[in-house]
This record gives sequence, structure tokens and C-alpha cells, in this order.
Amino acid sequence: MPTLESALVISNNQVSSHMFEMELAAPQIVPFCEPGQFVHLRVNSLNDPLLRRPLSLYDVDKKRGTITLLYKVVGKGTTSLAQLHADEYVDVMGPLGRPFSYPPAGQWAILVGGGVGIAPLLYLARRLKEKNYPVRVLYGTQSSSELVALDRFRQLGVQTVAATMDGEADYQGLVTDLLYQQLSGQEVEYLYTCGPEPMMAEVAEYARQYGLNGEVSLEEHMACGVGACLGCARKLKDSDEGYVKVCKDGPVFGLYEVELDLAPR
Ligand SMILES: Cc1cc2nc3c(=O)[nH]c(=O)nc-3n(C[C@H](O)[C@H](O)[C@H](O)COP(=O)(O)OP(=O)(O)OC[C@H]3O[C@@H](n4cnc5c(N)ncnc54)[C@H](O)[C@@H]3O)c2cc1C
Ligand code: FES
Repeated sequence: MPTLESALVISNNQVSSHMFEMELAAPQIVPFCEPGQFVHLRVNSLNDPLLRRPLSLYDVDKKRGTITLLYKVVGKGTTSLAQLHADEYVDVMGPLGRPFSYPPAGQWAILVGGGVGIAPLLYLARRLKEKNYPVRVLYGTQSSSELVALDRFRQLGVQTVAATMDGEADYQGLVTDLLYQQLSGQEVEYLYTCGPEPMMAEVAEYARQYGLNGEVSLEEHMACGVGACLGCARKLKDSDEGYVKVCKDGPVFGLYEVELDLAPR
């Protein structure tokens, strides 16, 4: 059951031109948090916008009872969120959604994140490392100034390779090209991916080519966040008769459960 909590803002710092990192004290929600889940935030006390906004668990510190979020300012809700200061409170519901699962023993965990889609993969990397899985992270952004999560992954001690288009990171080009260049199915790998849909579609294609398994985290517009309104309903495959609710049945789905679009949605 999700919990509703008035969470104290510990910090809310700008980390790039459009991205912020917010740490919240949410001791009632934290014990139940698993990687891949999200929280649903009322971004201010004015009910404007009326609907909550979903954000992934970027990191969770169970000892301190804190959640960290990484978010990109794209509209009204996230602009409002960026205006919160330390010592203010924000109304949080969570944790919500189906979390990532763990690979079969002995498999490499390969995490492929693009842009702000990297958010759910940091807490996943932390938990995989705690469980002694070998982890490799491939992290792609347009420019090196957007690699805001890179230091956090490196501090965790997981292998992390960054791809940007500006040539100022480890690899120049798309993170999906890096995937083929670095790995080419040499190890038994379990893939996790989150980011723009065409990127995830390429990761799914790579998995198909090498007969690998994995999971994908989807984004949809959401209203209730708990499976009650159909606001996030989508077909996983064109041929499906039924719809899934991304908030409740996902946001994590098996790589082969979903038909991903190579063209931007
Ligand atoms: C499960 C889940 C986890 C998410 N985790 C993160 C995260 O960790 N960090 C982060 O920055 N964002 C995340 N998002 C996306 C985030 O929820 C939206 O960017 C946010 O709600 C936009 O609110 P807004 O009021 O600022 O923008 P709006 O004014 O509502 O919209 C601005 C623009 O963003 C687009 N947009 C809004 N919501 C979504 C959405 N859910 N999916 C795709 N496009 C959208 C709109 O079409 C519009 O073009 C997540 C979404 C989901 C469903
Ligand atoms: S947002 Fe209401 S059912 Fe998913």
C-alpha cells in the first residue's frame, strides 16, 4: 500500500541548465522503496497544477530515511518543484509501481540510461552492487554538461562509461552504438533500460540479436498513479486487445513484453 507523507525538503539543487536534484526526508515511505518504483508529488500547496507529478526513485538512503529525486524542468509542475527550498514540505505518495527484478545469479547487469532516464538506474545499481552482481552502466546524453549522475555512479564503484555527442566524454556518439562497441553479447547479460523510446527500442533490438533478457521502464502521462483512472493506459503491443496501466502494471516491464517505437513518440 502506498503511503502519503508530508516530506521535508533537505535540499533542492540545480545540477545542470534544466535539471535539479532534490533530497527529501520521507521516513514512512523509505522502508518500502524498491528500485524502479516512483513517487507521486503534489508540487505545491496551491493545487496548481491539480494533478500530482510522478518521479522515479533516483536514490534511497534507508538509514537516513531519505529519497533523492533527479528531475528535468519541462513544464508547470517541475517549474514549481524547482522553486521549493530546504525546510519546506512537499506532499508525497509512494512508493508506487512495479519495481525492477534482479538477474539470475552469475549474470552481468547492464544498465543503459539516456538523459534524465538515468534516474531509476542509480538506486538499481546500488542494490545490484549490494547483492554482488557485476554491474556496467552505459550513460548517454547530448552533451557532457548533462552527465549529472556520472559522479554518483562512479562513487558507487560500478563500471560506468559515458557517451555524448560533443566528444567530451568516454565515447562520442549514441549510447546504443556504445552498447554494441563495448559488449556485443560477450558475457551473459541482463539488460535494464530507461530513456527516450527510440533508445530503448535499440536496446531491445540488441537484446533480441544476442538472445538476452531484461527490463524496460516506461513513461506515460499519469493522473491518479494508483490504477484507478486509466490516465496512463497503453497497449504494450499493437496487436494487444487490452491495455495496461503503466502506473500499476509498470512502469517496469519485460523487454519482450513491449513493442517499442524507433521513432520518437
Ligand atoms: C513512472 C514515471 C517516472 C518518471 N520519472 C522521472 C524522473 O525521475 N525525472 C524526470 O525528470 N521526469 C520523470 N518522469 C516524467 C515527469 O513525470 C514529467 O516530466 C513531469 O510530470 C512533467 O510535469 P510538468 O508539469 O513539469 O510538465 P507538463 O506541463 O505536464 O508537460 C510538459 C511537457 O512534458 C511532457 N510530459 C509530461 N509528463 C510526461 C510523462 N509522464 N511522460 C512523457 N512526457 C511527459 C508533456 O507532453 C509536455 O510536452 C517520470 C514519469 C513517469 C511516468
Ligand atoms: S494514472 Fe490513473 S490508472 Fe494510471
